[in-house]
Order: sequence, then C-alpha cells, then structure tokens
Amino acid sequence: MTDGRHGVHQPRVGVVGGGQLARMLTHAGERLDLEVRILAKPSDTSMRGHDPLVTVGDPDEPGVLDAFAATVDVVTFENELVDLDVLRALEARGVAVRPGSHVLAMSNKATQRRALAALSLPLPPFVVTTEASGVEKFAAEHGWPLVVKSATGGYDGRGVHMVDDAGGLATLGFDGSEFVVEPMLDIELELAVLVARRPGGDTVTFPVVETVQRRGMCREVHAPAGVSSETERAARHLGESIAASVDAVGVLAVELFVVDGEVLVNELAPRVHNSGHLTIEANDTSQFEQHLRAVADLPLGSTSLRVPAATMVNVVGDTTDVDPRDRLAEGMAAGDAAIHLYGKAPRPERKIGHVTSCGPDRATAHRDAASVAAALMNEPV
Ligand SMILES: Nc1ncnc2c1ncn2[C@@H]1O[C@H](COP(=O)(O)OP(=O)(O)OP(=O)(O)O)[C@@H](O)[C@H]1O
Ligand SMILES: [Mg+2]
Repeated sequence: MTDGRHGVHQPRVGVVGGGQLARMLTHAGERLDLEVRILAKPSDTSMRGHDPLVTVGDPDEPGVLDAFAATVDVVTFENELVDLDVLRALEARGVAVRPGSHVLAMSNKATQRRALAALSLPLPPFVVTTEASGVEKFAAEHGWPLVVKSATGGYDGRGVHMVDDAGGLATLGFDGSEFVVEPMLDIELELAVLVARRPGGDTVTFPVVETVQRRGMCREVHAPAGVSSETERAARHLGESIAASVDAVGVLAVELFVVDGEVLVNELAPRVHNSGHLTIEANDTSQFEQHLRAVADLPLGSTSLRVPAATMVNVVGDTTDVDPRDRLAEGMAAGDAAIHLYGKAPRPERKIGHVTSCGPDRATAHRDAASVAAALMNEPV
C-alpha cells in the first residue's frame, strides 16, 4: 500500500490512545520498520519522548480523529474509550478502522453480554438492568452476594461492585445507566486466550494463560495455563469462534472463568491485553507484533511458547511514593526478569510497569518475577 508516497513501504498504522499498550505497539513496529503513529491525550505520559510519531489530541474533540486518520492507512486502538459515531463516520468515508466500530461497540459490557448470549456461548448467569429493583429481582432467583458491573467506564476492577445485600445497592447510584448483574461465582481459575485475526479471516491463537486478579485487577499471568488439554481446547475454541463471529480484526482478548470445571466467557477486549504482555519474551511472536501484522493485513506469526514457563507480574502503584524508576538497580539485582516501565508516575492501584520471567518451570519463573516486582516497589515478596 504505497499509493506512490515516497518512502512508505507498508500500511501506516495509527493507534488511538497513548498508554503503555501504545508504547509496546510502537516498540514492535520499530523492529519491522512499520510506521506506527500514536494519538495520545495531553495527559498520557507513556509516549513522551517518542515524537514525531505522536500526535497529541483528544479523540473526543471534533476533527481530531479525522485529522489523525488522514495521516495513516489504518486506524486501530489501544483502549475502547472512543466515540462510536466518530468511528462510524470514518468508516463511512472508507477509512480502514480495525477492529471495526461494531467490535468496539462491545466495550459496553451490556452490549457485549447481549451479543455473546445471542451466540449461545457459555456465560455466567446475568441480567442487564438500570434499576435497583432489577438487581433485587435477580437476587431473588440467584441469592446474594452479587457482582454488579457498570456497563461503561470500568477497567481494572473499577466499576465492578461486589454487593452483599440489598442495602449495598444504595452506593451504586442508579441514574438510568445500565449495569450487568451476575452471581458471585466460585471461580476455580481465571484464564485468558488471545486470538489475532486478519481482515480476510486468517487467525492464530496463543496458548491459554492463567490470570490472577486482586481487587478486580490483573496482577499476575502464567504461561502455559497448566490446564487439561480439554480445558485448553475449550478456551481456544471459544476465543476463535468469538473472533470469527464478531468479525474481529487485530488481537482479541477473551477473559474466561472456570467454574465447576466449565469454561465460561467473562468478557472481551478488542485489543492487545495485559494477559499477553509476557508474549514479548515468552512467545515466537508477541501480541503487539501480531496486532500490527493483523491490522496491517500482513501474515501472522507463530504463537508458540519458546520457553517451558513464563510469569508476568504487574508493577502497581501503592499508597507510598516509591517510584520504580528510582529502584531499577534493586529490581535488576533481585532476580532474572525483563523489566518494563511505562513512563507513568506511581498512583495507588495504577499499573506503572510489569516484569516477565521465563524459566524451566512455573515456580522458578514466578519466584523471579515476584522478587523483581517487589524490589521495584520496595515491598516484601
Ligand atoms: N461474577 C463474578 N464472580 C466472582 N468474581 C468476579 C465476577 N465478575 C468479576 N469478578 C472478578 O472481578 C474481576 C474483574 O471483573 P471484569 O473482568 O468483569 O471487570 P473489568 O474491571 O472490566 O476488568 P478489566 O480490568 O479486565 O477491564 C474478574 O477478573 C474477577 O476476578
Ligand atoms: Mg476483566
């Protein structure tokens, strides 16, 4: 796709969003000499110092996304906080938006659940409601406690409320917006499967990983998941069938719960995902490169694990003012792990980096990753 433009050899990829995912997409693009341009908000610090390929602007402001789209051949996303009407207008003008607005629309948890239910996929029992009475009706059937999730605006557990009884609903503030309500499940294991899909339908699937959350936020990821081949197959099949059914392009992350031995779909993210950060060191092709290949419609790479085991541990801000950027030496001395810091200042419950350790087995990889992450945050392991 050169269009006769001097020096342009491959589609130029424009990423909307300027956080750590954009930063790691940029790294993947550099190796391939793929032009990756970023639309970052003024508050995004992760892409600072990466000019001139960064445009600073708010995609919600009129004209900003249009002007950015005019500088690239394909528009993709590192987060789902984009105005769907603006995207639809871009698509109507023939701009390649990958994944398309119909996939981005599923960032609304209610829309997503309805779409997944229409595909008859295994899901937690749920109801979508705008009212406390709707939650109470669901409780009458399924009992308390319940998990009540805002349809929009949530991430890293924000917007996910564990509610013990009807009294706990008072704090939710029902203002007409939708909530997805589920029983509090007895989850044996959380898994994630990442699928990368090209516009024509070519698809590759990464080995299934286990994710570990604390207070609703992903804290650790282990590859391989160490599940039975039956569970692995079920998870992969869910990922692949969802990607095909919704016509996803790029990386699609599918978060899964194992409950009573059954694999249920928790939610989707139509982008590169925290559960895939370890693919940078642990797999033949990283999720970031795979996403660029998919949206640029280039052949997809091998997803195989290159190592027996890998663990990723997130570096998360806490209430102290420890900044891991001041503790690199301590982190490096604490174990054998690749350190990634995102150019973000520490704040409580904010992901500011991650570390990945590859090893002969899960225990070794986990030990090293946990030690390095703890040293970076000056915490006990
Ligand atoms: N029904 C449930 N029962 C028990 N735990 C749940 C339930 N739903 C969610 N959780 C826990 O809360 C976590 C976050 O929930 P969910 O993935 O729906 O929200 P999120 O904030 O959108 O997450 P993300 O950070 O992936 O965007 C889950 O990974 C799981 O650990
Ligand atoms: Mg989630």
